[in-house]
Amino acid sequence: MLDIKITKIETPKAKPTGALGFGKYFTDHMFMMDFDEGIGWHDARIIPYGPIPMSPASSALHYGAEIFEGMKAYLTKEGKVQLFRPYENAKRLNSSAERLCLPELPVEDFVEAVTTLVNLDRDWVPTEPGTSLYVRPFMIGDDHSLGVHGVHHAIFMVILSPVGSYYKEGLNPVSILIERDDVRVAGKGGTGYTKCGGNYAASTRAGKKAELKGYSQVLWLDAVERKYIEEVGSMNVMFKINGEVVTPALVGSILPGITRKSCIQILQEEGIPVSERRITVDELLKALEDGTLEEAWGTGTAAVISPIGKFVVDGKEFVVNNGEIGKVSQHLYDEITGIQSGKIKDTRDWTLEVK
Ligand code: COI
Repeated sequence: MLDIKITKIETPKAKPTGALGFGKYFTDHMFMMDFDEGIGWHDARIIPYGPIPMSPASSALHYGAEIFEGMKAYLTKEGKVQLFRPYENAKRLNSSAERLCLPELPVEDFVEAVTTLVNLDRDWVPTEPGTSLYVRPFMIGDDHSLGVHGVHHAIFMVILSPVGSYYKEGLNPVSILIERDDVRVAGKGGTGYTKCGGNYAASTRAGKKAELKGYSQVLWLDAVERKYIEEVGSMNVMFKINGEVVTPALVGSILPGITRKSCIQILQEEGIPVSERRITVDELLKALEDGTLEEAWGTGTAAVISPIGKFVVDGKEFVVNNGEIGKVSQHLYDEITGIQSGKIKDTRDWTLEVK
């Protein structure tokens, strides 16, 4: 168990009023803990939210030694606060840490850090439908040396942000640009399966280009052959083609999403065929052209279930399901958010009460 020292804020901040957007507001406190080689993790503490002192030589600043997670805390109608599958995030953080030579963190310590902080700031969990408290655990390498070596000193932190929907469209279908030029830094053997900041830094140029053209995000193709569909900027992707749900297989370059995994389990338990396999952009285009693509949607912690109403590729636009949310996307959204918010009974032991 962590021995967490808590220093409370003197004057709590005013809570935001009106639309929350995504990741714009932060709560009163944050969690912080240091790692030193030979000592391990130490000095677990919760302190008022604010800037952290950093050496200008920090390895996080120069070489992108950074990994993160995304989770959400929800308020149930009984007034309980609960997290969705936090142990999965803890395990994925360790898988990212292993790839980036950052120190791993015992999963129980990860969950204790998150639950203690969320409990302290529990009055920040928003109450409006479709809102939640986004939890952002992250780790940086913080060696003060310009040599490129493994990490000897690291910092693990957790910050909290009350959020609404990730896309301005909410549950209305988004438009996605299929990117032919840029690729994520995500070939086999690379960092595509991790949640490291560098993956997202490399994706911004294409994301910006898509936004300027009025599309929400890009759909990435594989970095080697540029023909297999990988994932969308902040979410995994699923298609319903000819009655079957198809999603790109986890071939090492794709993020193993927790919402993705949960959707697959729900669909399989309901007897809906799901195939995790490689799918080419040509197969998608053919299904768009011959009308066998019945639905498409993204899955992610921030995005939850985000229906896709349009794909754009090589200047041509293809509308999916008349630009409307489909039956499966709506069902998965209702089921996942129902379990997360406590409206639907959690029969799979996916939720953890924060107390
Ligand atoms: C999440 O879904 O939690 C993510 O990490 C996506 C993020 C890049 C906004």
